[in-house]
Amino acid sequence: MTIAEKVQAFLERASWIRKMFEEGTQLKARYGAENVFDFSLGNPSLEPPAHFKEVLVDMAKAPGLGHHSYMPNIGYPAVRQAVAEFVSSEQGLEITADEVIMTCGAAGALNVILKAVLDPGDEVITLAPYFVEYGFYADNHGGVLKTVSTKSDFTIDVQAIQAAITPKTKAILINSPNNPSGQIYSKESLLQLGVVLTEEGRRLNRTLYLVSDEPYRKITFDGVKVPSIFSCYAESVIVTSYSKDLSIPGERIGFLAVNPQATYKKDLLAGMALANRILGYVNAPALMQRTIQSLQGICVDPAIYEQKRNLLCDGLSECGYEFVKPKGAFYLFPKTPIPDDVTFVKALQEELILTVPGSGFGSPGYFRIAFCVDDETIRRALPGFERVLKRS
Ligand SMILES: Cc1ncc(COP(=O)(O)O)c(C=O)c1O
Repeated sequence: MTIAEKVQAFLERASWIRKMFEEGTQLKARYGAENVFDFSLGNPSLEPPAHFKEVLVDMAKAPGLGHHSYMPNIGYPAVRQAVAEFVSSEQGLEITADEVIMTCGAAGALNVILKAVLDPGDEVITLAPYFVEYGFYADNHGGVLKTVSTKSDFTIDVQAIQAAITPKTKAILINSPNNPSGQIYSKESLLQLGVVLTEEGRRLNRTLYLVSDEPYRKITFDGVKVPSIFSCYAESVIVTSYSKDLSIPGERIGFLAVNPQATYKKDLLAGMALANRILGYVNAPALMQRTIQSLQGICVDPAIYEQKRNLLCDGLSECGYEFVKPKGAFYLFPKTPIPDDVTFVKALQEELILTVPGSGFGSPGYFRIAFCVDDETIRRALPGFERVLKRS
C-alpha cells in the first residue's frame, strides 16, 4: 500500500458522480458523445456572461506592478469591500469588508470554516440529500459528518435536527437552493432553526455555527427568493462562489461572509484567515478577484435553466416519474420506481442516459438529473427515460 489506508478507502467508495463521469467517458468513446445523454455533472452549460469576458480581458491588460503578487490572505481590500456592499444589500444587514474572506470557490470556503472550527471528533450535521463532498470536507479537519433526513418534500425538519444535536455538535451545514433536490428552505423554517440552535447552544454552553452553502442563490425559479440567513441566526456564515452564477467553476473564485452579529466573530475570522493560508490556498486567485469586483450581482439568465427545468419536468411527469419540482439550482431528484437506485441508474445507462444514484447523496430510492445541458439532450433522452420506467 503506497497511499494512506483512509484515502484508499475513500477511493473505493469514491463519489458516484465521478464514477458516472468515468463510465460516461467510456460510453462516449464507444457510441459517440452525441449519442450519450450526460446528466451526471453539475457543470454549467451556459457560457459566462459577455461582460465577464470583457472585464477579464481589461484586467489582464491593466498596467501596474504587483497584479500577480501575493496579497493579504483574505483577499484584496477593495474586492472585499465590493462584496460586502453587495452581501449587505442581499442580506438586509450592514456587512463590512472585514467580515468577508475571498476563497477558492465555495469548496475552499467550506474547508476554511471547518478547519477553523472543528476539534477532533466534533460533529457537523447536514441535511440529506446533500452534496457528497461534505463528508470528505468534515473528515479533512478531524470532524464527523452526521446526516439528518429532510421531510418528504426535502424541506427542513427542525425537530429532527434538534434531536441530532449532541455535546459534540459544532456546526449545521445547510445548502439552499439544494444540490441535488432543488429545494429552497423557507424563511419560516430557518427562523425556527435559528431558535433551536440558540436554545441548544445555551443548553450545551457551546457555539453552534450555521453554515449556509449558497452557490446557487441566484439561480431560482417562479420568482422564489432565497431568504437571508443572517437575519435568522447570529452565529452564521455564508459560503458562496461565482462558479454557477457566472458559469466559471474552473476559475475557483468564491467567498465567505460572517454574520456581523456573531459572538466570536474576531476569533472566527482570524482562524479562517490562517486556515486559508495553511490549507495551501494562500489566497483566492488574484486575476479572478479583480475581475469579479465589478461584477457583483451579475448572473447568467436563470430563466434559461427554468425553461430546461420545465422541459424536463413536463416530459418526466408525462412518462409517470414522481418528483418535487425544483425551485432553484439545476438538478432534479426524482424517486426511482424500484427501491434500488443503483440498479435503476444502471438500467438508464443501458439507454445511454447518465444520472447519479440518490445513495451518492445520502438518499437511496432517488436519482439525480443535472439539467445544466442543452435542450436537445433533454428532448432526445425523454423516450429512453420512459422505456426504462416502463420496464422497471
Ligand atoms: C452544494 C455545493 N456546494 C459547493 C460546491 C462547490 O462549488 P465551487 O465550485 O464554488 O467550489 C458545489 C459544486 O457543485 C455544490 O453543488
